[in-house]
Amino acid sequence: MKRILVTGALGQIGTELVPYLREKYGTDNVIASGKSANGSEKLIETGPFEVLDITVRERITDLIGKHKINTVYHLASMLSGTGEANPLGLWEVNLDGLINILEASRETGCSVFFPSSIAVFGPDSPKDKTPQNTITRPTSIYGISKITGELLCDYYHNRYGLDIRGLRYPGVISNATLPGGGTTDYAVHIFYDAIRHGRYTCFLRENSSIDMIYMPDVLEGAVKLMEADPGKLRHRNAFNVSAITVTPSELTEEIKKHIPDFKIDYDIDPVRQAIADSWPNSLDDTAARAEWGWEPGYNLEMMVEDMLKVLGARLKQTKSSAE
Ligand code: SER
Repeated sequence: MKRILVTGALGQIGTELVPYLREKYGTDNVIASGKSANGSEKLIETGPFEVLDITVRERITDLIGKHKINTVYHLASMLSGTGEANPLGLWEVNLDGLINILEASRETGCSVFFPSSIAVFGPDSPKDKTPQNTITRPTSIYGISKITGELLCDYYHNRYGLDIRGLRYPGVISNATLPGGGTTDYAVHIFYDAIRHGRYTCFLRENSSIDMIYMPDVLEGAVKLMEADPGKLRHRNAFNVSAITVTPSELTEEIKKHIPDFKIDYDIDPVRQAIADSWPNSLDDTAARAEWGWEPGYNLEMMVEDMLKVLGARLKQTKSSAE
């Protein structure tokens, strides 16, 4: 029986992964954790929740023992934009936190899911259809933490036989919880502003091409990889996955099919633009498709239609209950 601990359960992915895992494995078998109980009311009400500071290793080991955990989805992480404002803080969360999870998992024999990112690539990586194995050399502190994390995960697998698996997520588009300070956040904010105001000011250039993925594919991908036959996994960790390759102007055109008067203008943030410029335009995800059957369900058209429908209904409801 799976007994799962999710770190970073209050983040963009965690808030949706927890109910998805609970539906699949049973509510009581999925322990959500976050750095504070504030803002966690909904999670606390709907199943087991623990406050967890991932920089404290003993607390992780204690929780694994207390709840008889055998699998950790380690989502707690700082993102690229926030990381440039606080590189040492990012190091503490992303790398001290990861090594604590790996050590606690080594001591207790847990499997681990570690989400990496397109941020592991840098200016010297091939730009288009970036291969699974190629030059990485990232320049953002976030990318440096993710490539180091990938190597640490490989090390713990090779050295200690730990079952660690992971994906390189592109920008994640979702409608339940906002992302926390990433370079790809424009692709989420644009929907909120399109619905609320009919216009959006984008912090990336109109032609910045970055791969994106819609939340239902994020959830399905993570669980499918964790359930995959290990004998078929040649890479195990750091699989490129891709679903939607898009620029701000292409996303605008797609939104305009539903909101014809929608307008975008640009006020470039030099820090996040430099990060976006250092990342691939698109990824080659052949290895994920071949080794564990990765197949995204949402393309650009389907994602935009669903985002506008679901978010539109929610924002309307929030507005009318506030009135
Ligand atoms: N969404 C992340 C960011 O922009 C990339 O993994 O930082």
